[in-house]
Amino acid sequence: MKVGRSGMSREYKTPCFVMEQGKLDRNLEKLATIEKKSGVKILHTLKSFNQRSILPHIALKLSGMSIGSSKELYMAQNAKAKHLHLYAPAYKENELIEIFDKISTLSVNSLNQWLRFSSLELDKKPSMGLRINPKLHLPIPDYCNPNLGYSRLGVDYLEFLESYSKNSDSYKNLEGLHFHALFQSSVQGLVILLEHIEQHYSDILPQLKWLNLGGGHNFSDKNYEVKSFIQVIQKFKTSYPNIELYFEPGEAVVKDCGTFITTVLDIITIAGENIVILDTSIETHLLDVAIVNQRLKVVGTQNFSTPYFYKLTGNSCLQGDIIGEYFFLDQLNIGDKVVFENMMSYSMVKMTEFNGMENAKFILI
Ligand SMILES: Cc1ncc(COP(=O)(O)O)c(C=O)c1O
Repeated sequence: MKVGRSGMSREYKTPCFVMEQGKLDRNLEKLATIEKKSGVKILHTLKSFNQRSILPHIALKLSGMSIGSSKELYMAQNAKAKHLHLYAPAYKENELIEIFDKISTLSVNSLNQWLRFSSLELDKKPSMGLRINPKLHLPIPDYCNPNLGYSRLGVDYLEFLESYSKNSDSYKNLEGLHFHALFQSSVQGLVILLEHIEQHYSDILPQLKWLNLGGGHNFSDKNYEVKSFIQVIQKFKTSYPNIELYFEPGEAVVKDCGTFITTVLDIITIAGENIVILDTSIETHLLDVAIVNQRLKVVGTQNFSTPYFYKLTGNSCLQGDIIGEYFFLDQLNIGDKVVFENMMSYSMVKMTEFNGMENAKFILI
């Protein structure tokens, strides 16, 4: 095997996802330090990474996990996660009732769900909150921008404020608000979000026990300004000392912790193009490429021209199974490894169980 520029020294049976424990630990240490120094609680979001063997390790380091279904609840419980926050765009009522006493905080996604679930008479209920769409104007790609006016994720903040002012009684059990509005954001995004909260919810904040400030915080990036984060949080906590602040990053927990490795099965030249067939397929392993046209980073390539220009494709029978075109630093040969970088978040989960979705049954009638 040609080792390539990634420094891999072992023969891996491909396709495979390879995680480096040292890099995961570095991220977890940083997140744990942020928690300790700022007093916020960081919950790992299972929809981004849910490898069962690693979850107990993550659970030891962070305050809890953010889950989206009963399937993810059992994963988090098995990992011995402490605080469990549940959020999904909608719930099946019977399933929700079954797990009500096992979760710590819960956000519902609509006013309609608030009315249905907050009035349930049950012995033990989690602390209940509502996800809000703050409609912030931020430079986020449309496919993952929860702030869009037509987003189905969270209640439009103006609609919520109007409903609250007309009928605050129906919100007497409201203990939390949930805002997932950022994406790969610096501290500046958090500042904008907190300004929105302080500006619009001053009547409501005194009754709240918690705010969930979502994911999309680029905590593990080397340029993330931890000191300013701590200052921003301290300032907010001075005004609202009784509100617990939760963050639920996904990407930041496993950012740059591992790769996806494939093997070149063939190289064919068609109409002057060098087409590389890899032992993968976008529909099986790389759904982000198929769904949101994401450009993956490949080890040993650069953005500007080299003599080694290849179209990377999959080994399925779909003509559109095309991963992307890349300038390599060296010639590729059959048997070489092609290594995709930063592949631990979302790609692996999307292969099977994004958001802990149930597998659809097959029924023959
Ligand atoms: C509600 C919610 N919270 C947290 C996250 C994690 O976001 P990120 O991976 O950008 O940190 C997501 C991602 O889609 C989300 O939808």
